[in-house]
Amino acid sequence: MTTTLNTLPATLSTREDPFAQERAARTQPLLLHSLSLFREVFEVVYAGRDISTVVEVGVESGQVSSIYTELGASRVFCVDPLPSDELRARLAETPGLELVEKPSPQVLGELPVADLYVVDGDHNYATVRGEVDWIIQNAPDAVVVLHDVAWPCSRRDLYYQPSFIDAEQRFPDSHDGPTVWQDELTPAGFVGMGAWTAAVQAGGERNGVLTAVEDAIAAADDEWLLAVVPAVFGVGVMVRRSEAGHDLMERLRPFTGSRLLESLENNRIALYTRVLELQHGAVAAGVEAQRLGGIIHDQHLELERLNAELAAAHAATAERAAAAEQARAAHAAAVEQAAAAAGQAAAQLAAGEQRAADLAARLPVARARALAGTVRRTGRGGVRRLARAAERVRG
Ligand SMILES: C[S@@+](CC[C@H](N)C(=O)[O-])C[C@H]1O[C@@H](n2cnc3c(N)ncnc32)[C@H](O)[C@@H]1O
Repeated sequence: MTTTLNTLPATLSTREDPFAQERAARTQPLLLHSLSLFREVFEVVYAGRDISTVVEVGVESGQVSSIYTELGASRVFCVDPLPSDELRARLAETPGLELVEKPSPQVLGELPVADLYVVDGDHNYATVRGEVDWIIQNAPDAVVVLHDVAWPCSRRDLYYQPSFIDAEQRFPDSHDGPTVWQDELTPAGFVGMGAWTAAVQAGGERNGVLTAVEDAIAAADDEWLLAVVPAVFGVGVMVRRSEAGHDLMERLRPFTGSRLLESLENNRIALYTRVLELQHGAVAAGVEAQRLGGIIHDQHLELERLNAELAAAHAATAERAAAAEQARAAHAAAVEQAAAAAGQAAAQLAAGEQRAADLAARLPVARARALAGTVRRTGRGGVRRLARAAERVRG
């Protein structure tokens, strides 16, 4: 069965291409923030007014600038004191767009009075109040489109270029950012990453973009109407009270009166700041993991050093054990040698004793023999003496 609808979203999936919407969804940046998303709102403005000259304050990438000429403007003054080289090149190649490298609101008086002012430069009270005051006084028939009149800048200043603002007109600021999850700024919030800082204080007098617009309108005796499209940080449309002004506001009502847009925006900033919180947590966990990794690495090195020390100690112990074993073996050999020597000595002693005993046993016989010998010799000597005596006697 085929369903016939009058208006189908361009990115809706089809039966043949069931992933068309997913593809479109994932090509979106994580954070939609540009006024280029408001082409339909500009179309309504152009339809109700003759817009020939536009002053665009705060250009950034220039992705909105050409919309103004595409819708019919002939001259667009693109005011940005800090353009990138890409922006310069982009604007240079687009007819009708002129880059003005100066800060607003100071530069507004140097430019032709415009039919449409798009205010999206520095998002703080002093700057926006200066811009809206100047437009109210000098371009009473202009339509003014103002970005960032809702969270986070509605009641809290952001500062792109604090140096352009007198110190006494600025609040103490911080590189921490706002979040919808707590009232105080936090490093886990919507931070400017070097592009801007946020006022530490929210609310009160002379703080925030919406406060500046309200005060400027009040100072102009409420001669101007203001309506807000509650999407992508809030887009205000200001026009002087008149039939044409009321008519324009009426035609913008589908956008400005949309509870649906309001809910989607609140949901978007809640989800986005939750993502920021999670990202911050993940980065912090990564840093902690790195710190712990460093500790583990150091401990690993220490362990290796201790292991080497242990191995050296083991080797020394083994060396000492080998030396002790050698000494023990030498001692045992010496003991054995000594025992053998003692045995030998004992045997020799025993033999000596034996010989001595034998000798001793033989000693009386030898003496007797010697005595006998002596007796025999003595006897023979006596015999000879007797013979000689007999001889002498005979002789
Ligand atoms: C939020 S971005 C603009 C985004 C752009 N309008 C868009 O919707 O895509 C703000 C820009 O304002 C510029 N800016 C800051 N201070 C300014 C000032 N005093 N006057 C004009 N532009 C300023 C910054 O350089 C930055 O490019």
